[in-house]
This record gives sequence, structure tokens and C-alpha cells, in this order.
Amino acid sequence: MRHVFAALPFLFTAFAALAAPPVLDFTEISRSEGRSAGCAITFDDGPGEHTGRLLDALADKRVHATFFVLGRHVRSHPDLIRRMVAEGHEVENHSFDHPDMRKLDEAARQKEIAETESLLTALGAKPRFFRPPYGAYDPRVVEDARQNGLEVVLWSHDSEDWRYHTVATLEGNILPPSSHGAHGIFLFHDIHDSTIAAMPSVLDELKDKGCRFVTVAEWVDGAGPLPDTTPPRQAGAKSWRSLLRW
Ligand code: NI
Repeated sequence: MRHVFAALPFLFTAFAALAAPPVLDFTEISRSEGRSAGCAITFDDGPGEHTGRLLDALADKRVHATFFVLGRHVRSHPDLIRRMVAEGHEVENHSFDHPDMRKLDEAARQKEIAETESLLTALGAKPRFFRPPYGAYDPRVVEDARQNGLEVVLWSHDSEDWRYHTVATLEGNILPPSSHGAHGIFLFHDIHDSTIAAMPSVLDELKDKGCRFVTVAEWVDGAGPLPDTTPPRQAGAKSWRSLLRW
């Protein structure tokens, strides 16, 4: 009998893993899905004092980005959220106050997501994704997001722009070294002046490397044709949807 009880925690974990909705972890997805040349440029933690200048640069480059914003900053800069929506960017939920969601009780977790959600919808945004602060989540966080109608989404390329403060180091960290072609979900932060300053050049370089700029929703939905330079898909290759965690 004793060994049955010993197995219970494992069985519960296994069941929770099966029951919970999937997480879009692009580290795994984009590594396995080499055929896609889609590049989704994402900005976390804003909007902030530099975001308007970033929107100017994105308009100039005709790139639609995906913003994972904090509720407390949305409250301070509602005009910037309206502008993002009006200019065709995606605006998504990154919590209200940037906590480690795993350390909160259920009421606090729901408050973080739902308060941000109501602010955003009041401003015309229609969030579809939740990106947990620090990329830190567990099955409860995934379920909380789902209850708000949101999928948990991470990234595949971390620019580490909080660490790299020049265009050259930023590019060095995110651009693929070979001609393989850049693709995936790129993580930046629009709260850093140096990131905004580097973006025009970074976008040009990514485009030269074969990037076709899409939003996260477009990437997930697989919209748009692929460039001729990508190799044909191998027979029997797994769909990236089959690689979803949980
Ligand atoms: Ni963040």
C-alpha cells in the first residue's frame, strides 16, 4: 500500500501536465521549425518614455511588432496603447506589476492578469497572449491565463538588451552567424533608450538575413508565404504545434 501513496505525487503531476493547456515556448518551436522565415519582434515591460520614438521607427520600417505591456504602465500611457492599436501592432498582457507569478496566490495572480486585461480592452486592444514576467510559469499560471482567454507565450531569441547597450553587441547577440536565415520570436524591452536607438539598424540587419516580419499571432497562425530560399519541408517532419509543452 505504501508504494501506492509514494506514486501519488508523480501521478498527480503527470495528470496536471496532461490537463493543462499548452505553452508556446519558441525556443523549442523555432529550433525545430527551420522552414519558417517569420520573425516576430516583441517588446516587453513598456510602454515607457521611449516607446513613442520606437513606434516612429517601426512605422518608418513598416514593421508590425508585438508589445507585452505592464498594466501599471498602460495606466500611465493610455495614448501609446491607442497608437499601437491604430498602427497595427499587437498589444498583449505581461501582468500588471511584473511579479514572479509563481510566488503569488490565486487571487493575486488573477488580479495581475485581469486588471491589465480590462485596461487593455478598454483601450481597444484584443490581447490573445500572456507572457509571464521572467518567463516564469507553472501549470497554475497557465491555467490563470487560460481563464482570461490567453495563451502563455515565451520567445526564442533573447536579445539580452538590458545587458548589451550598443548596436554592435545587440546585433552580435541576436543575429545568426551564418546565412541560415533568421526566424523566430525576438525579445526586446522598449524601456531601454539604447534598444530604441539600435532598432532601425537591427531591423535592417534582420531583414538582410531573410526575416519576414510578422506579429506573434501571425507567426502562430502561420500566415503568409515562405521565401524561395528556404529548403523544402522534409516529409514526415513534425508540425511545431506538436512540440508545445503541456
Ligand atoms: Ni518583463
